[in-house]
Amino acid sequence: MMQVYHNPVLLNESVEGLNIVEDGVYVDVTFGGGGHSRAILDRLGPNGKLVAFDQDQDALTNVIEDDRFLLINENFRYIKRFLRFNSVTAVDGILADFGVSSHQFDVAERGFSTRFEADLDMRMDQTNQRSAYDVINTYEEERLKQVFLQYGELRQAPVMARLIVQERETKPIKTSSHLKSVLVKFLKHKNEHKVLAQIYQAIRIEVNEEIDALKELLLQTAELIKPGGRL
Ligand SMILES: C[S@@+](CC[C@H](N)C(=O)[O-])C[C@H]1O[C@@H](n2cnc3c(N)ncnc32)[C@H](O)[C@@H]1O
Repeated sequence: MMQVYHNPVLLNESVEGLNIVEDGVYVDVTFGGGGHSRAILDRLGPNGKLVAFDQDQDALTNVIEDDRFLLINENFRYIKRFLRFNSVTAVDGILADFGVSSHQFDVAERGFSTRFEADLDMRMDQTNQRSAYDVINTYEEERLKQVFLQYGELRQAPVMARLIVQERETKPIKTSSHLKSVLVKFLKHKNEHKVLAQIYQAIRIEVNEEIDALKELLLQTAELIKPGGRL
């Protein structure tokens, strides 16, 4: 059976929130499986336009064949540049559904899921230089600690960072099982899954520079959205 790429959450609520005008120009900055994009296209008239972004090459398999639609395989942090390149300077609404798609979680070798044994990766853009391997094996202890503290809200961040640095002095930490074995003392309690999810979230946010990308997007949306438009 074919796997569903992503089941969009709050599909109708978020698209209703855009208050779509038939001839409007809209942007879906997190295309994924295209669930939100399809719902936007359903509400657009023949002269409407939808531009979508996704930095993951896998999302291209979901491209929608529709003259009103354009999919750009780039990071949304460059939204203004790529819209301008496609002659779009102002839009009526922007939709963002941040985070990881079910597809990214379900493909073991992408390394996003705590469920699977995999190499440390977690890159949404698979052409990116930096992967989870680089974060875990090259970051200085203080920087690793900050990643776990800021993006994972892990109180045990200082000890986690120290254990990782000690281990990699012996050999590089390449896989999810190796990382888990290094941090095993934090994964023995009943909240093991929660702690592991926080560790993964922290690494993923750092690998993909999610906070910087979000800040850069938000700064540009103010310039792009027409008066009365929606985000
Ligand atoms: C939660 S999924 C979106 C699912 C989508 N709304 C749907 O209906 O299928 C998030 C998607 O955004 C993409 N993404 C996350 N950060 C991005 C960024 N900075 N630039 C471009 N795409 C990004 C991910 O690759 C992923 O495919």
